[in-house]
Amino acid sequence: MTEFVAHLESIYGPTAEQQSARYRAGLERFREAYGPGPVHIFRAPGRVNLIGEHTDYNHGYVLPVALDRDALLLARPRPDGQVRLKNVEGKFSPGTFSVSATIPSAPIGDWSNYARGPAQELTRLLGKPVPGFDGLVSAAPPYGVPRGAGVSSSSALTVAMAVAFAHFAGWDWQGAEMARLCSDAEWYVGTRGGIMDQFIALLAERGHALFLDCRPDAQGDFLSRPIPLPAGYRLLVMDSGVRHTNTRNEFNQRVAACRAGVALLRRVYPAITHLRDVEDEPWGGLEALLPEVASVAELKGEGVALGDLPNVPDDAPLRVRACCRHVWSENHRVLATISALDRGDIVRVGQLLDEAHQSAGTDYCISTPELDTLAAAARQVNGVAGARLTGAGWGGCVISLVPEGEVAEFTAYVGRVYTVQTGQEATIFPCQAGPGAGLVGLAEV
Ligand code: GLA
Repeated sequence: MTEFVAHLESIYGPTAEQQSARYRAGLERFREAYGPGPVHIFRAPGRVNLIGEHTDYNHGYVLPVALDRDALLLARPRPDGQVRLKNVEGKFSPGTFSVSATIPSAPIGDWSNYARGPAQELTRLLGKPVPGFDGLVSAAPPYGVPRGAGVSSSSALTVAMAVAFAHFAGWDWQGAEMARLCSDAEWYVGTRGGIMDQFIALLAERGHALFLDCRPDAQGDFLSRPIPLPAGYRLLVMDSGVRHTNTRNEFNQRVAACRAGVALLRRVYPAITHLRDVEDEPWGGLEALLPEVASVAELKGEGVALGDLPNVPDDAPLRVRACCRHVWSENHRVLATISALDRGDIVRVGQLLDEAHQSAGTDYCISTPELDTLAAAARQVNGVAGARLTGAGWGGCVISLVPEGEVAEFTAYVGRVYTVQTGQEATIFPCQAGPGAGLVGLAEV
């Protein structure tokens, strides 16, 4: 185990010791559940997004950072094509399914869907069933990824499963193809998200954010570039404790508003396929072509097709103009943030993060009073460079760049203000910018 701990240090840095206790406990549980023998250990991290929210499914730009909090999957291959799953958290009941190219989904909310999706997608891609396995998942906070907090716990689980299936199938995956596969696997669960979460979970580099252009090139590859986090600052994550409810519908309605925008703009710009394509047009000209609000039924009546989008009722009022404005302006902000980071202009980075929070709240309507309270409190602390909600929204976390010397003061102050103003507790922790998913090692239990 000593050797193992040294390896864990290269993944987790200062929390390696605590992580090794978690690994040990997981291995012990695995032996109890499935008996002695070899065990493969896979992991995939959660993420925060520095800037670039709801741009990925519009083929725009994002700048996510992996957390050192992850989903662990302990697994031992089986010869019979069965997947048996257990979870260290008793509230998640065990699941079993057989691998094939068409795996029936379990009811919505059943966590085994995060394994069924990748098993089905990888089986289709490889043209033969991937091997099954006995698996045990360990993803409980504090060292696992907080759930429902907008830090991609579901993508972490999907990616950990996909990496395990790929390993047992002997598939030497490449970033873009694997990210797309995992993204398709999540469509299996029902959310029409983009590719950001899977990409960062797979390709993160320690100490870096990842600039990603979500528009695939002709070969289906994506342009990406690791961006070092600013020296002298810590990226702090403030979890509001407010959890998303029913966000699949809200999320898909935002996707619908963007698609409606594209369909309407195409009347003047026939070649466009995504909002990204009008990035260089002045907003004033675009705005005039978009209705403030339109229902799905009205749009259909005008011949606007929105494609396959579950849970978007016909009478849902889509705020087409404001949603498109957010995406258009957010893409500009991501590029401006990259240049500000490149030239070390942290004050400008902070302004852009603040503007992104404002746009997410007023235009995309995904903030909450709790997230606004956290962001406002964070900005009060000396030298802080911006604060914004991160992830899909409707609860979850706010991030902020905090001067290293102010971290203790920041944590105490923001925590206190949040409790006084909302009566709730925030969990505030530094993001260690961990590496991407993979096989951690092989152990004998
Ligand atoms: C969710 C989705 C991502 C992205 C974000 C918002 O996390 O899974 O693809 O759209 O929301 O930026």
